[in-house]
Amino acid sequence: MKKILVTGCAGFVGSNLTERLLGEGYEVIGIDNFNDYYNPAVKEKNIQSAMSYKKFRLYRMDILDLSRLGEIFAQERPEKVIHLAARAGVRASIADPLLYAEVNVLGTVNLLKIASNAGVGQFIYGSSSSVYGNSKRLPFSEDDPCGAIISPYGASKRAAEFFVETFHRNFGLKATILRLFTVYGPRGRPDMAPALFTKAILKGKEIGQFGNGLTSRDYTYIDDIVDGILRALDVAFDFEIINLGNSHPITLADFIKTLETATGKKAKIKMLPKQAGDVEVTWANIVKAKKLLGWESRTELPQGLAKYIEWLSQN
Ligand SMILES: NC(=O)c1ccc[n+]([C@@H]2O[C@H](COP(=O)([O-])OP(=O)(O)OC[C@H]3O[C@@H](n4cnc5c(N)ncnc54)[C@H](O)[C@@H]3O)[C@@H](O)[C@H]2O)c1
Repeated sequence: MKKILVTGCAGFVGSNLTERLLGEGYEVIGIDNFNDYYNPAVKEKNIQSAMSYKKFRLYRMDILDLSRLGEIFAQERPEKVIHLAARAGVRASIADPLLYAEVNVLGTVNLLKIASNAGVGQFIYGSSSSVYGNSKRLPFSEDDPCGAIISPYGASKRAAEFFVETFHRNFGLKATILRLFTVYGPRGRPDMAPALFTKAILKGKEIGQFGNGLTSRDYTYIDDIVDGILRALDVAFDFEIINLGNSHPITLADFIKTLETATGKKAKIKMLPKQAGDVEVTWANIVKAKKLLGWESRTELPQGLAKYIEWLSQN
């Protein structure tokens, strides 16, 4: 199984994954529409090194274009699909829930339909810890009923998961849902706290701390996430949902302290009210990932932030 189609290949997770797959000898068919959720020039830069591989082909297109998707699958015949293209970002989803439903749900159904028609051997869906919302069952386990979703983004990712599962049941599509927890590191999404805070502290600028600093996140280093996705690619489960998270939540206040140590600079904090859609805590139970994938996150926050800061200094 060497020909993989990756959607969202120019994004943060997608570009890191694409490069790793190419490095390991896979042929990669990439799809991305380079939308302006954040500066498309960042995405162009993300994908630059992958472009030098002969085994990489990029299609600049929208996953909402069903007929174009059909043409690409007929032409390329990918053996497996890793679907990462999405509107990401909790806060923006509150401003524009329709867009999130359209891209994250309809876009996923488009891919499922084309992939199952084309007889693709495995469909990996990049889901999110947001599907757990404010669940009180900690740490979050894959069998959680997910009855406490609080953002349109989380709802769109959960709705897409239901479609993935349904395509497995109805059409026998082999599918793995990976629930990713707050990913950070090189090419980190510019709208997320790790990137915003690190860049601001390095430049001596103010950072906006939403809430009392006691909300916590299970920050997970990008290389660990990519490693987990590759392991899932090795085993075509009939259907599984698996958390990929560090399993070590850090409060926002401690995150900022860790960043101060890593940068050697004091943060200038501006206190702001808690934002709608922000959950209290994310915390992955990774027993299943260990058992089924032999995976666990290896990078603790200080180490991961040091690598990220090193990367920022070179870019
Ligand atoms: N970064 C995280 O912490 C995190 C956590 C949980 C889940 N995820 C999930 O992982 C995936 C990747 O997230 P990311 O952080 O790399 O985000 P990202 O925004 O950097 O990457 C998403 C990519 O998808 C592309 N895209 C969006 N809509 C598209 C469309 N209609 N057609 C074609 N391409 C489209 C974008 O241009 C972008 O390059 C998403 O599905 C996201 O929900 C990310």
